[in-house]
Amino acid sequence: MEEREKIVELFYKQKETLDNFLERDAISKEQYDISLNGLITKMGITNEELDRIVTKRLVLRKWRIEDAPSMFKYASDPAIGIPCGWKPHTNVEESKRIINAFIDHHPYCYAICLKEDVEHPIGCIELNLKTSLCRSEDECELGYWLGKPYWGNGYVPEAAKSLAKYGFEILGYNAIWCGYKDGNTKSLRAQEKVGFEYQRTIDNWVVEQLNEVRIAHVSLLTKEKWLSLNN
Ligand SMILES: CC(C)(COP(=O)(O)OP(=O)(O)OC[C@H]1O[C@@H](n2cnc3c(N)ncnc32)[C@H](O)[C@@H]1OP(=O)(O)O)[C@@H](O)C(=O)NCCC(=O)NCCS
Repeated sequence: MEEREKIVELFYKQKETLDNFLERDAISKEQYDISLNGLITKMGITNEELDRIVTKRLVLRKWRIEDAPSMFKYASDPAIGIPCGWKPHTNVEESKRIINAFIDHHPYCYAICLKEDVEHPIGCIELNLKTSLCRSEDECELGYWLGKPYWGNGYVPEAAKSLAKYGFEILGYNAIWCGYKDGNTKSLRAQEKVGFEYQRTIDNWVVEQLNEVRIAHVSLLTKEKWLSLNN
């Protein structure tokens, strides 16, 4: 691990301790803010480094243009793009264009990285705003994919649980939607593990990029349900 990543990792360990103190009311919010700001200054933590979600095994961080080869490695596999509704990437330049679009227009789109290798993303997870599933401003939609070699370790449910927490507690959303193509039982299972519940089936979901009309199932995680599972 690079020297800088070690410092950022240490910062998040210390932040976790502070978060625990705050959750247990061992310190006031004012004491928390002072201590956290002190850590940020002392360790020289940048805004990009601060905009991370750290889980037990993963770091969700913003995409960087240097990640294009890692993205291409997995997003060129049809097993990833087709269920998500997009064509497999055909070259690294295409992955660069997608990363640029994420940076410019997708404020809550994160690269999924293993803690031991934060430099090479293995997947992607996002809270999408104002999609066709959202009924109001306080709702968003979850999307995700993971490189095939990493399937089956519960990484996406782990990432999704933390992103949902961020969406409900910090961003103030009240409901998160999620869809999956008929037959994509992997995605269904991942959603069930997070607490999403089936709502309805759309028989004519138009996937423009693939020039396809598919059957899609829609599930929902409300803040209420999430609170009941996490308290
Ligand atoms: C759907 C996806 C994100 C799940 O992520 P994950 O981190 O592997 O999720 P989990 O480890 O919880 O596995 C979920 C289910 O996938 C299935 N699965 C796991 N490993 C598998 C493998 N190697 N091959 C086939 N299926 C597998 C299992 O049914 C598992 O459920 P189980 O734990 O009850 O047995 C991942 O499979 C993926 O990226 N698929 C392609 C893109 C995609 O479908 N995105 C979602 C679009 S809606």
